[in-house]
Amino acid sequence: MSKPVAEAKRRRTFAIISHPDAGKTTLTEKFLLYGGALSAGAGAVKAKEGRRSATSDWMELEQQRGISITSTVLQFEYRDCIINLLDTPGHRDFSEDTYRVLAAADAAIMVLDAAKGIEVQTLKLFEVCREREIPFLTFINKWDRPGKDPLALLDEIEETLVVEPTPVTWPVGIPGDFRGVIHRGTNEYTRFERTARGSTMAPETLVSAEQAEIDDGQWWTQAREEADLLNELGRNPDPKTFLAGESTPVFFGSALTNFGVRFLLDGVVDLVPSPAPRLMADGERRSLDAPFSGLVFKVQAGMDKAHRDRIAFVRVCSGRFERGITAIAGRTGRQFSTKYAQTMFGQDRDTVDEAFPGDVLGLVNANDLRVGDAVYVDGPGSTPASFPPLPAFAPEHFMRARVKDTSKFKQFRKGVTQLDEEGAIQVLRDADQGESAPILAAVGPMQFEVATYRLENEFGAPVELTSTPYTIARRTDEESAARLNSMQGVVVMQRDEGTYLALFESRFWMDRVLADYPELTLERMVAEGGLN
Ligand code: G4P
Repeated sequence: MSKPVAEAKRRRTFAIISHPDAGKTTLTEKFLLYGGALSAGAGAVKAKEGRRSATSDWMELEQQRGISITSTVLQFEYRDCIINLLDTPGHRDFSEDTYRVLAAADAAIMVLDAAKGIEVQTLKLFEVCREREIPFLTFINKWDRPGKDPLALLDEIEETLVVEPTPVTWPVGIPGDFRGVIHRGTNEYTRFERTARGSTMAPETLVSAEQAEIDDGQWWTQAREEADLLNELGRNPDPKTFLAGESTPVFFGSALTNFGVRFLLDGVVDLVPSPAPRLMADGERRSLDAPFSGLVFKVQAGMDKAHRDRIAFVRVCSGRFERGITAIAGRTGRQFSTKYAQTMFGQDRDTVDEAFPGDVLGLVNANDLRVGDAVYVDGPGSTPASFPPLPAFAPEHFMRARVKDTSKFKQFRKGVTQLDEEGAIQVLRDADQGESAPILAAVGPMQFEVATYRLENEFGAPVELTSTPYTIARRTDEESAARLNSMQGVVVMQRDEGTYLALFESRFWMDRVLADYPELTLERMVAEGGLN
């Protein structure tokens, strides 16, 4: 077996999605604890001003708002595997970002709050998972607190998401009096003990059925009966339906007290698929031991205030990456140096010397790279790589942006271009207002907040946003553009990369135009309506 293939086999690359407050950050921290990465020092969770300053929350705005917008990557070892945990933004307004992160992940974990079940944003983010056809595990968190009945939660998952929940662990004790879990594969009952603030791993004891009967009485009997019922119903984890996104292995636990965290991490190792040969634009799969190639799934500037540099996050898809190789940016064909390749660990960075399929690299100041691009090694024996394009989400919010102080126009233009290239917001220009007052288009309104904040703080160009009458967009072409522009209630605008978007004041109006002029090009974009 070649080295890239052997190393790929050890990789588990996944993302966590959840409604804000369900426990994504806490669970991430606990994964690091179980992965031994917390004591290692490098970028460990910073316990200063409260938990919100956890490793992956670094931007000021995020801290003010208590939301996670940007994403980072955490890598740690667990058992004999290397785990790459990709952080996703917690708010559905950034679901396009989540989609891009999922393009770099091989699976996801959906975290639910036991008392709340499936919440609005869980559903939106889950739809993104489904769109990407990515398998996912479910972690039902906060079992240490009063919550819903476990069987009722399974029903809720099944009915709302239309996937079959197949519990791997089953809780003993009611929410609020959580004793431990039965592992349905081994039938063993593991009891947990709390530690102070959950700062160390929860001690575990294997308890015999006889002892459980004595100690846990009716909770044990009830859990056993429920587990038997699940067996009768055939609710057993099944790798095939899991990989097809038709079933989801379910784990119960409490991230806060560490109960059940180890089982979930074992589930990641045992169930999440290791990186597979990646589908290319030509429909072929690039084998894992082909020369180095990677997918750019995120571009982010301003991560480090001191440097103001721009980082392209690249998921390695094939081969062995070695720092210092000359790489080619697939879209432009230009060469660039990888001397400054880094691993990203929350706010901290380390130089990376080599990486394998499933790993994520941060390429510093590779300014040519855009989201969706391929990069590959230059040199003899190398073959170009190109991936199917990442679809753009349909924006549903449109604001006109003007710089407040015209002497800052240059900074404004630079900032707007940068945000567009990062995919933080879509920038649309029209013939009349063009450069001076572009329309910013977003999937969710919070993107405007981020854009305004960054234009002011990062680029020194405070802006004023004014509302526009538009509520829906369709992709069109140059030919249809002229005719659409002559109509009332619609305007055609263009993105820097050339795409034409027709903006309509209402869906009703758009449907009328579609019905009256079927010959016009008006294409739907990903996730329209379904996600907002
Ligand atoms: P998020 O990233 O998904 O937004 O959620 P986060 O981990 O920040 O957790 C949100 C809140 O839920 C936090 O409380 C956290 O302590 C709590 N929490 C997470 N997991 C569990 C759990 O298993 N059991 C219980 N009981 N609570 C849990 P907070 O009040 O916002 O912060 P803090 O005061 O606890 O630091």
